[in-house]
Amino acid sequence: MTDTATLSDTATPIVKAADVAYVRFSAPDLDAMERFVTDFGLVVAHRDENLLLSRGLEPMPFLHVVHRGPAKFIGWAFEVDSEDDLAALADAVPGCSAVHDIGGTEGRLGGGKRVHFVEPISGFVLEAVHGQHAEPLASRRDRHTYNHAGVDDRVGVEQDVVGNRYPIKKDPGPAEVYRLGHVVAAVPPGAHQAFMKCLADTFGMLVSDSARMIIPPGAEEHFPQPLVELIAATGSDVMFQFLRMDRGDALTDHHSILVLALMDGTPEAQFSHAAFEVFSMDDVFRGHMHFRERAAEGAPYALAWGVGRHVYGSQIYDYWHDPYGHVHEHMCDGDRVDASYGPNTIDMTDPGQLGFNGGSQWGPTVDESGIHSLNGPQCDPKFAEQPEEIRASLLSRDLSGVQHIVDAI
Ligand SMILES: [Fe+2]
Repeated sequence: MTDTATLSDTATPIVKAADVAYVRFSAPDLDAMERFVTDFGLVVAHRDENLLLSRGLEPMPFLHVVHRGPAKFIGWAFEVDSEDDLAALADAVPGCSAVHDIGGTEGRLGGGKRVHFVEPISGFVLEAVHGQHAEPLASRRDRHTYNHAGVDDRVGVEQDVVGNRYPIKKDPGPAEVYRLGHVVAAVPPGAHQAFMKCLADTFGMLVSDSARMIIPPGAEEHFPQPLVELIAATGSDVMFQFLRMDRGDALTDHHSILVLALMDGTPEAQFSHAAFEVFSMDDVFRGHMHFRERAAEGAPYALAWGVGRHVYGSQIYDYWHDPYGHVHEHMCDGDRVDASYGPNTIDMTDPGQLGFNGGSQWGPTVDESGIHSLNGPQCDPKFAEQPEEIRASLLSRDLSGVQHIVDAI
């Protein structure tokens, strides 16, 4: 049994994806979602009765899509290098659409071509896009230069990170989002390993860090029996994996996808969270304070976890539940690595390797932050208050209520 037990037989992948491009949701109340994405620091690129498209500062037309419909995470898109890559996916992936121009408002904003398919292990709709483009947006604040003790990188300039020194104006405001950083899926045990392999086989994803429950022989009785049985049944002790794009010698994020085993009994795969990159830790904290203010005013947002700094990937993080419980993360200062990195093994039976409090270099304790897991919208403190219809829709991967949306992708 090895740390790449579910990936080691990966043949040449169909494509090597370049990055993640956007996430796609549906929600009954687009007004509530527009307020949320604005408070999150996204810029609304389009809004009509049925569609909300939001973007960051990078030169991409949108990175967050919400359709009017049942409360549901639909899936996400990979960016690929060429139309040939789209054609390769269309040829090789069962049920994949043909390559076509991105239509409707999404195409009008940024052009490009794409394919999509319903991934059968997870039930998520996965898309691949190429050729989207938009002009970048200017930052209101730009980069900050930090002084460190004994190292004066900023000389003769006040540290005005909120833009309110001259003139006086109410602007900390929201964080400024630059780009989509990573997407995290929580997939029922056993299927989670098959989904990891699917991402490697289809999009060429590489393992950065692989978290394994390495139970010493004869010590099985000291570990939860469902876990022991899962490992025996699947032949793999991989519980979660940080996966990155294969960009050869070029740098890429330590993880663009993380796949977790969904261990809380929820029967279908869930959207854990999407992380959006901001420029600096000042923006992470600014976003945190803005959400705290808005939540205190009654906005339907709940802190999931933060502010802290991860061990694996090193990002400074802050996680919040949106009005439907889907977690959106602000992050910055993540590790950038090339194809030579890893794969590394995290031994989950060794508390010293995971880092305290669920993988933090520093940050709030589990109790202080309120986080119990990032397994999906069922972890939102507001979840029990949602109408039954919304709770059922959030947790189900049944696409029948959004089939018209999927058909139009
Ligand atoms: Fe994250």
